[in-house]
Amino acid sequence: MSDRIQAPRGTFDVLGDDALARDALVEAARRVLEPAGYGRIETPTFEATSLFARGVGESTDVVQKEMYTFDAGDSESLTLRPEGTAPVCRAYLEHGMHKLPQPVKLWYLSSFFRRERPQKGRYRQFWQIGLEAIGSDDPAVDAEAILLLSEILEAIGSRGLRLRISSLGTAASRTAYREELTAHLRANEDRLSQEVRERIDLNPLRAFDADHPGTREVMASAPLLLDFLADDDHEHFEAVKELLDAAGVVYEIDPTLVRGLDYYTRTVFEYTSDALGAQSGVGGGGRYDGLMEQLGGAPAPGIGWAAGVERMLLASPPPPVAPPPVDLYVAYATPELRVAAFKLAADARRAGHAARLELGGRSLKGQLKQADRAGARYVAILGDEGTSLKDMQSGEQKTVEPDTVMHHIRGGL
Ligand code: HAM
Repeated sequence: MSDRIQAPRGTFDVLGDDALARDALVEAARRVLEPAGYGRIETPTFEATSLFARGVGESTDVVQKEMYTFDAGDSESLTLRPEGTAPVCRAYLEHGMHKLPQPVKLWYLSSFFRRERPQKGRYRQFWQIGLEAIGSDDPAVDAEAILLLSEILEAIGSRGLRLRISSLGTAASRTAYREELTAHLRANEDRLSQEVRERIDLNPLRAFDADHPGTREVMASAPLLLDFLADDDHEHFEAVKELLDAAGVVYEIDPTLVRGLDYYTRTVFEYTSDALGAQSGVGGGGRYDGLMEQLGGAPAPGIGWAAGVERMLLASPPPPVAPPPVDLYVAYATPELRVAAFKLAADARRAGHAARLELGGRSLKGQLKQADRAGARYVAILGDEGTSLKDMQSGEQKTVEPDTVMHHIRGGL
């Protein structure tokens, strides 16, 4: 016999109570996002590779090492989406959403793919709930987006949360800063990790992310971007903070906060949880005012975030999950009654009842046991002598006319 095939490394099946817990999480998110005016968007699972190369950035880990890219023939290169922001921006451009009232507010629940080393909380296929608000650079959009994430995390009872925020300024203020930072890194090059050394010119800000002890020492005395913000970036950041304060959102300012994707400008933020292990990022995001142009569109500012579904579940107590109720279980005594039983279950469903039909070929006793296990409220038993209905709560059982079963389910025996 050949080896059994297993799910690919870094992927997982969602079963039973886990599936119910996910549904509960998505429902909690929907209850926060939709009243705030966010509409649902779903984009394709794969996109042109150049969308991510240009959108997410050639120098990022995601683009350099983690993408599942394949040749789709006719020299077309496609990639399983590693993130959702670039696809949503592509859709905004493709559908002329700039003609809609701005900002356009969209949310998604999608699966994403990154070829990372799997560990607890880090998978190769994972799910995110995310939102993007495109077409306004008002700091209130930033503050509202952050507030909505905090409300979702609160609604699901996430533990040990910490929100860090910062501002990366605009490209112009970053250029001046990059020069200072690069000079600092060059001056201390011999103490840096090889990876950081190799990326000094490509992406010096990522050095703030390093775990390497020498690099961390060098970064402790590095110049900070927050001190280099242009006046309008500074004002924007102050306004975001004021709005968060007004809404009672607790945050820390972390001038070393760098996110792993290149498109960010101005506001960036990240929620971590100490209920998680090494992979402590629950959700994060920021503003990306230059991304549309990067993708070949007219300029349009945007901001958004994404939160990992698996990490939110890991950081929160399991939600109370209840199996769906069963109004009626249809059992039958002999195979000859299968058609009548099938029809009764179908009619009951059409009338709006949650009806189950015996499908396991069990004995009548086995069927009643199964009905009990399923938590059925009533069991209809079709027998050669007629139909009886059993109230599973009171234990009462009565012979009924077959066409009155529905009437009894509604009104009791
Ligand atoms: P990100 O920080 O790369 O941002 O991912 C957001 C969240 O997705 C993380 O905080 C984490 O919870 C989850 N996540 C990321 N990678 C994995 C993985 N391998 N396994 C499990 N969970 C993971 C973005 O993706 C941006 N598109 C967010 C954004 C939206 N920025 C602006 N708009």
